Amino acid sequence: MTTAKFKVNRFWSIVLTFIVVYALIKWGIPAASRSITALPFPLSVPGTLMFIYMMLTLVALFLLVTFSDEYMAEFLGPVKKFLAGGYGKIPRLLVLVAVPLIAGWQVYELTVPKVELPSSLRIQHPSSNFPKTFEALKNPFANPTTDEVQAFLEQAEANEVSFIPQVQADIDAWMDMTEPEHVLSFIPTKPMQKFLDQLDAGSVDDEIAKSALIEKHLFEGRALYAMNCRPCHGDSVAGDGPMADGFKLRPINFTDNGTIETIVEGYTFWRVTNGGPGLPVEATPWDSAMPEWKLNLTEEERWKIILAEYDLAQKTPRIPETH
Ligand code: HEC
Repeated sequence: MTTAKFKVNRFWSIVLTFIVVYALIKWGIPAASRSITALPFPLSVPGTLMFIYMMLTLVALFLLVTFSDEYMAEFLGPVKKFLAGGYGKIPRLLVLVAVPLIAGWQVYELTVPKVELPSSLRIQHPSSNFPKTFEALKNPFANPTTDEVQAFLEQAEANEVSFIPQVQADIDAWMDMTEPEHVLSFIPTKPMQKFLDQLDAGSVDDEIAKSALIEKHLFEGRALYAMNCRPCHGDSVAGDGPMADGFKLRPINFTDNGTIETIVEGYTFWRVTNGGPGLPVEATPWDSAMPEWKLNLTEEERWKIILAEYDLAQKTPRIPETH
């Protein structure tokens, strides 16, 4: 008796199983997700995953139906009967007309050209609201004046060069430990070595003194960069600092040709000064996490960092256009 009942339902049990699995994935999982995550909205199953689950279900049902000739006959029985008009000619006509219509409508929906809003493009360097007064600004530490070089030379001769407070303590500790002849040997670069040699010999070229002073500024700038910018922009200034992955809009890679090389120094200064919050609407929809550095760094510190930033990236700023 039970087999007789089973026979009648073979076709529908397959169809129902398919519908139940679909409903569980489509509505069951999102409903369960609400109580699991305690979020105020359900998490829907992605379309591709839905497709994979339904394909697997189809394959499983196909294996079941084709397991034996008997099952196959039970499943196909109602289908054949329907097509032969065993359930009435009107329902058959309706289904045979509806199936191609639905298929045609779906294909039409897929292929018809749609009117869509153009995707909004983000402008990384909005020039419209960039204050023109910044454009002509020059980095005062890239090109020290003769007076500044002279003052530096005098300090160096007296071995009394002082540094920014952020690095002074480390240099003092190093002095106590190694007792070097000159404090500037803390910066072991070639231009500095040349300067110290000339200082020893008693006659220093102006150009050599100037490049040594720039070396000192670069050193201070690098230290400030490491303290403030490295977490996002990275050791290698490639925008790959330890925090970088946390931002949707990645911190800029300064070694990329399309970034700081294409803008004038004054713009870089303005950008560092005002950070992400200073950008106008053209720079949305993704908000930049770049901090507003005027709140934490003095003008001098910002310029020194910019000097080091270009140097570390091996780039030169764009030259302002003269009209
Ligand atoms: C919290 C992470 C973070 C820190 C810290 C940070 N930045 Fe940024 N920076 C960003 C992001 C994000 C952008 C914007 C990316 C964009 O606009 O496409 C950016 C953009 C910039 C740009 C713009 C480059 C361009 O081509 O427009 C400069 C210059 C810059 N940063 C310099 C610095 C300097 C200098 C420091 C340290 C004083 C610093 N940043 C610290 C995240 C950071």
